[in-house]
Amino acid sequence: MKFENITYSILDETAYITIDRPKKLNALNKQTIEELSHAFAKADQNESIKAIILTGSGEKAFVAGADISEFAGFSPQEGAELAQQGQEKLFDLVEKLGTPVIAAVNGFALGGGLELAMACHIRVASENAKMGLPETSLGLIPGYGGTQRLPQLVGKGRALEMILTAGMIDAHQALQYGLVNHVVSQEELMGFCEKIAGRISRNSPVAITAAIKAVNAGFNTSGYQEEIKAFGEAFGTEDFEEGTTAFLEKRKADFPGR
Ligand code: COA
Repeated sequence: MKFENITYSILDETAYITIDRPKKLNALNKQTIEELSHAFAKADQNESIKAIILTGSGEKAFVAGADISEFAGFSPQEGAELAQQGQEKLFDLVEKLGTPVIAAVNGFALGGGLELAMACHIRVASENAKMGLPETSLGLIPGYGGTQRLPQLVGKGRALEMILTAGMIDAHQALQYGLVNHVVSQEELMGFCEKIAGRISRNSPVAITAAIKAVNAGFNTSGYQEEIKAFGEAFGTEDFEEGTTAFLEKRKADFPGR
């Protein structure tokens, strides 16, 4: 597959996957998800690769979410399919990958962007990073595993506050919450992730794959299916129509509500 929205490269024993739509703040459209899915599978099949570093192109964003312009007109069924297919193709794939994935969060990680970072095994943020799940401000809920993985990482109370307020937290608060493992300057970010990758590369690849599998087994919940169902249902609401239209018209949403 030819990549147009991402770049893929290998240096020594590390694969670098970079989401490359900086003008759209690396928002995840369908094609980008497809390309990412292929790139992760490709890296995982290459036995000489010991770790993968995922980042966003430019200095402003890791990923500013799913591409709102692409799904604004979707029906509830299309919405549910979007979440289901995205989770299978990318988010579950990354979480279950036998090769460790390090997210280098170099700026905004919002909505699907934070969900993608949370599906990775390790997260490092640069000082300018901002994280949040803004979906409720669009009349939606997180649909790529955010309602499950955020509480796993930060606890239920903090996760609910972030989801219900749709607010953003900065890198230092994310560190305090346990949402990221480290915060470093933007210049140091890739080098720091490479050091972690280097330490991983000395260990047994077989044991590493087994450890990822065992850790994941403890978080095997049915909540993801509930999330997909509720995400799909949101597409049938007037709040969703108002929320996405307001975003695209660059104005504040005025929700009709229940
Ligand atoms: N989907 C589609 N396009 C997006 C996007 C997204 N999630 N996030 C940003 N963009 C686009 C903007 O529409 C804009 O495109 P344009 O130049 O063609 O108008 C471009 O990326 C730059 O974004 P802009 O909003 O002008 O940058 P900013 O610095 O003023 O604001 C954010 C940055 C991240 C606060 C803002 O872009 C934002 O709120 N994005 C949406 C976040 C979101 O709700 N994500 C969850 C989606 S489920």
